[in-house]
Amino acid sequence: MADMLVKLYDFDYDESLFQHLENSQITVRRTKAPEKFIVLNWVKNKFGNHWASECDVSFSNNPISCFIAVDESKNKIIGFSCYDATCKDFFGPMGVDDNYRGKNIGKALLLKALKSMEEVGYAYAIIGGVGPAKFYEKVAKAIIIEDSEPGIYKGLLK
Ligand SMILES: CC(C)(COP(=O)(O)OP(=O)(O)OC[C@H]1O[C@@H](n2cnc3c(N)ncnc32)[C@H](O)[C@@H]1OP(=O)(O)O)[C@@H](O)C(=O)NCCC(=O)NCCS
Repeated sequence: MADMLVKLYDFDYDESLFQHLENSQITVRRTKAPEKFIVLNWVKNKFGNHWASECDVSFSNNPISCFIAVDESKNKIIGFSCYDATCKDFFGPMGVDDNYRGKNIGKALLLKALKSMEEVGYAYAIIGGVGPAKFYEKVAKAIIIEDSEPGIYKGLLK
């Protein structure tokens, strides 16, 4: 799982995407402190301890560097994305509920976080230890960082 690099300046943020999702009652927004344990429990149940731990760290940042997708018709979290968790300038982790994949929710969660990263002053974002490289290539023109595997995540406790 190599790291990838995304250029944040000159990035083409597709704002219309968010309106399309809202028309389907799906909103993507920064999460709020009172939601912390709901978000962490959801991430832990769906994606395990490592990602929940990283997500927890993102709640310590000010502003909170975690975004969630919500199905407003059910008032339920259906996806999340974080940055500045394991390392500064690192995007990730992120994930979308199985039942909601393929609807551009992952794309929206990625774009929200990347835009926020640019706004806090980063010129580039590093996507840490990617799984679906093609997804990041497609949505964010990310490129693989040579010799970055296993990178910062080497030897984690399991
Ligand atoms: C990766 C993930 C977040 C994508 O979420 P999603 O909501 O299904 O993705 P989207 O619908 O926003 O996809 C946006 C585009 O990327 C493409 N895409 C999505 N997943 C892809 C993949 N694994 N490989 C290649 N392309 C992919 C879609 O086809 C879509 O393309 P289009 O605009 O031409 O239709 C989701 O599959 C997931 O949660 N996976 C498990 C957790 C994970 O691997 N997280 C990443 C950790 S680095």
